[in-house]
Amino acid sequence: MNEVVKQLMAHRSIRAFEAKQLDDQTIRVLVEAAQQASTSSFVQAYSIIGVTDPEIKKALRDISTQHYVEHNGHLFVFVADYKRHQLLAERAGQSVADYIGETENFIVGTVDASLAAQNMAVAAESMGLGICYIGSLRNDMARVIELLGLPDYTYPLFGLVVGYPSEEGSNKERLPFEHVYHENRYSTDDYLSQIDHYDARIADYYRERTNGRRSDKWSSQMMAKFSHTIREDVDAVVKQQGFLKQ
Ligand SMILES: Cc1cc2nc3c(=O)[nH]c(=O)nc-3n(C[C@H](O)[C@H](O)[C@H](O)COP(=O)(O)O)c2cc1C
Repeated sequence: MNEVVKQLMAHRSIRAFEAKQLDDQTIRVLVEAAQQASTSSFVQAYSIIGVTDPEIKKALRDISTQHYVEHNGHLFVFVADYKRHQLLAERAGQSVADYIGETENFIVGTVDASLAAQNMAVAAESMGLGICYIGSLRNDMARVIELLGLPDYTYPLFGLVVGYPSEEGSNKERLPFEHVYHENRYSTDDYLSQIDHYDARIADYYRERTNGRRSDKWSSQMMAKFSHTIREDVDAVVKQQGFLKQ
């Protein structure tokens, strides 16, 4: 394994940080590394908001309910963003609103922002920093939009906290290769038995990490997740912002 692959394989989310802020140069390097990710049709349909105002950070922590949203080296919020495209069109007297709102562009914006974020995550880890994505900002998407002053033709996707780790974290084993990688045609052969095997390994992981207090299986976590609806407001907020209108 080369050094890049070794680093990718060593990834673990970090949820406790020293009280040391990232300096401006580090923030710039991280954002520029994010920007260099591939981008669909060169559209660059995202923006990144760095949150330094303690009051806004506290409000975002309250939305997420996770302390590390407030206590970290820097908080980035990734926003899918077609505002610049809409303003360009407006200046040119071209109406693009209907086109920007198409589902295809919703996917493009979401993918573009996610690729940029993952570039930033990998860059940060290569610098010895720890990271954790913060999807829980979508607990109240409308309030995030208000707090960050996001205009129409944008929607916030997730935060990324970055900082100097004050915990080691632990490397979580993923689904087996055979389960995730299919050749030529998709197949569910052996799917459930592969998951049973994986469940046993994940239960061991939690048992070891919690001195036996937890022994969750991956499948029970997933069944719990898909036993109720969550964030039902997201659909209306995204539509309000100009997307998925059809
Ligand atoms: C888009 C996205 C949103 C996430 N949101 C949260 C979050 O709100 N809070 C949190 O603690 N972890 C969050 N995570 C981290 C995942 O829980 C974590 O990546 C997963 O459990 C695998 O663990 P690992 O990153 O340590 O390998 C998120 C990850 C992604 C990709």
